Amino acid sequence: MVSPLQVFSRNLRAPFHRWQAFRLLRALHAARPSLPELAKRGQKLGSNGWYRVRTLQIPSEITALAREVEKLKPRIVVEIGTARGGTALIWAYLARERLITCDILDKRGFADLLRAFPPPDSACRVSVMIGDSHDPAFAERLRAELAGELADFLFIDGDHTEAGVARDFEMYREFVRPGGLIGFHDIAEKQPLPTNQVQHFWKKIRGAYETIEFIQNRDQTGFGIGVVRVPAEGFPPATR
Ligand SMILES: C[S@@+](CC[C@H](N)C(=O)[O-])C[C@H]1O[C@@H](n2cnc3c(N)ncnc32)[C@H](O)[C@@H]1O
Repeated sequence: MVSPLQVFSRNLRAPFHRWQAFRLLRALHAARPSLPELAKRGQKLGSNGWYRVRTLQIPSEITALAREVEKLKPRIVVEIGTARGGTALIWAYLARERLITCDILDKRGFADLLRAFPPPDSACRVSVMIGDSHDPAFAERLRAELAGELADFLFIDGDHTEAGVARDFEMYREFVRPGGLIGFHDIAEKQPLPTNQVQHFWKKIRGAYETIEFIQNRDQTGFGIGVVRVPAEGFPPATR
């Protein structure tokens, strides 16, 4: 939780942090990072305040997922759960045409940095959508944003309760093309918070589909990524 004093202080320093973040991003683009390097920089680009880029991912897990997504040669990636943009940075490098990243929290001025995530020679356009993914009106906004296209990859990393992740899967799986992938974060059996319940959801669905798991250590607390391949017939429209 950010206090009013912290908000005031961050707003005051925002122009400097923005300048710093764009400088670091330009340097990253110029270095033409590999996927493991990108996963590392997504953890901490070096920027601060409203413009700090972070992620809570195990580098080997997110790199393995990124390699799997890369195999799809994705045109369109959708992410539920932008947070500090760490995974969006990776998707922005992989998506050839669109990245749509969504969060319930207002990302303040950060959106202009997110929109600059694709490398300079990329045709990828980034859309930052703010709203509750569980709201049917939000799903309709996303449908309009996709304008009849289907995503190649959907990363579900928003509400981590069992009911919340199940609802995201039910509502958004129809937006992914047959043969595309849907990823879920935090499937490891042991989780640090009682509200992290993705593992319960994952155990219920993994037998029903073609799946892949990226878990660095079966004994770890937290993290772990599960992936579902969308069946050839696709998923049916959600019941609203
Ligand atoms: C674990 S973070 C995402 C991390 C990010 N994908 C990464 O690894 O860099 C989860 C994010 O989901 C957002 N979130 C939680 N519930 C949501 C909902 N119902 N709709 C949209 N976003 C939600 C939170 O605000 C938070 O920023």
